[in-house]
Amino acid sequence: MSNPVVVVTGAGRGLGEAIALSVAEHGARVVLAGRSVPALQQVCRAIEANGGKALVRPTDVTDAESVAGLFADADDAFGHIDVLVNNAGIATESNLIDLDEAEWDRIFDTNVRGMFLCTREAGRRFAAAGAGRAVNVASVFGLLGRPGFSAYCASKGAVVNFTRSVAAEWARFGAQINGVAPGYFATDINAELRENEAAMAKVLRRIPAYRMGTPEELANVVTYLAMSAPDFLTGQTIAVDGGESSV
Ligand SMILES: NC(=O)c1ccc[n+]([C@@H]2O[C@H](COP(=O)([O-])OP(=O)(O)OC[C@H]3O[C@@H](n4cnc5c(N)ncnc54)[C@H](OP(=O)(O)O)[C@@H]3O)[C@@H](O)[C@H]2O)c1
Repeated sequence: MSNPVVVVTGAGRGLGEAIALSVAEHGARVVLAGRSVPALQQVCRAIEANGGKALVRPTDVTDAESVAGLFADADDAFGHIDVLVNNAGIATESNLIDLDEAEWDRIFDTNVRGMFLCTREAGRRFAAAGAGRAVNVASVFGLLGRPGFSAYCASKGAVVNFTRSVAAEWARFGAQINGVAPGYFATDINAELRENEAAMAKVLRRIPAYRMGTPEELANVVTYLAMSAPDFLTGQTIAVDGGESSV
């Protein structure tokens, strides 16, 4: 794939920013989607300063109209899209017995409904083109259970099995969908945890590599799945977690 058009959700910071910069470095034209426009603009400037091409598109992935507009604008700007990276996601901690419905819905709206809306838009285009790729950012929390994270774990487990089902549908028309399951990477999503020394020590004891990953390590795997993995690889979710889910 040379100079593919790649849509990245949640591209303004954290893992999404690293993914956007990495695919751009490998020649992709990147559609940067997210709610915070200044953050997206900063990533856009970094890509352009490196000689790349990017489009900033304010998007709320939970809103079907906003998502439809994202893909329509990507079509207008670049003529088509080749790859979707479903990265936007949120996590909050609460024991199940204290979890209210609004929080459950908020997590599922972003992590599951958002992924569904974006993947459906991309899939319609891939079916017509007979090609295309999606990469879903799940979590090791979608492979394992964790106390205090039932809603998040359930939402990321949904991402993993959605990936399998859609792979089976898309293989018939030549498109692929895979996922990554990140372990711990230092981003805003775990800022509070990283400030708690005792909690961090507990987390590190669970990771055979005894460290957090760097966003670039995750972005390298996403870039491979998005741009150079064989077409025969589909429906898989690769844990990038320093061995956390292997023990
Ligand atoms: N960091 C980790 O250790 C880790 C581990 C496992 C999985 N993950 C997953 O990796 C992904 C990225 O997380 P991160 O660590 O980079 O966290 P982050 O720094 O908090 O970034 C989350 C991103 O999602 C975007 N987002 C949230 N709600 C959105 C919405 N409704 N519409 C559009 N964009 C939305 C945010 O942008 P705006 O707020 O500007 O919209 C932001 O760019 C998530 O799916 C997360 O679950 C992260």
